[in-house]
Amino acid sequence: MNKKPFVIFGLLLILLAVVIPFWAFEKDGNTANNEGIPSESTPGKQLFQTNCGNCHTLYAAGTDGDFGPNLDAKLAPAGPPADETAVKGIKTQVMAAIEEGADSPDVPGRMPAGIVTGTVADEIADFVAHYAGEG
Ligand code: HEC
Repeated sequence: MNKKPFVIFGLLLILLAVVIPFWAFEKDGNTANNEGIPSESTPGKQLFQTNCGNCHTLYAAGTDGDFGPNLDAKLAPAGPPADETAVKGIKTQVMAAIEEGADSPDVPGRMPAGIVTGTVADEIADFVAHYAGEG
């Protein structure tokens, strides 16, 4: 008797029962362990879109508000910050704007103080400091 069909069927069974679930499991595992978190999923980005995007353009957040200054041009005219010191400098400037508001005599419109506070303010300032200048 020819055993070939049984061998082929056996191999097919192994493929279905072992290889495919293993492959699917591996894929899930990889997604869950993904370490490089893109700016797309940082909480600061969404918070920026909600609280600042109506007035400010920021390329990394995909916002195009034009009531206030374009924050890429304003905060990082030479491109994204090169090191942590530069990031901290921008973050300080953003926190100052959030906490104190901004009302320069030469700029039309003003930014009210305290639009956001606490950890929300911190998340936003952190996001802006890291991603300003990408556009
Ligand atoms: C109601 C509109 C409005 C909203 C909302 C707003 N801003 Fe502003 N923002 C402005 C205006 C207008 C200016 C310019 C004010 C000026 O210089 O007179 C400004 C200026 C700034 C500046 C520059 C300050 C400087 O150093 O001169 C930063 C940084 C800033 N905003 C960040 C933010 C962030 C972060 C948020 C969200 C928490 C935000 N803004 C929300 C209107 C807004």
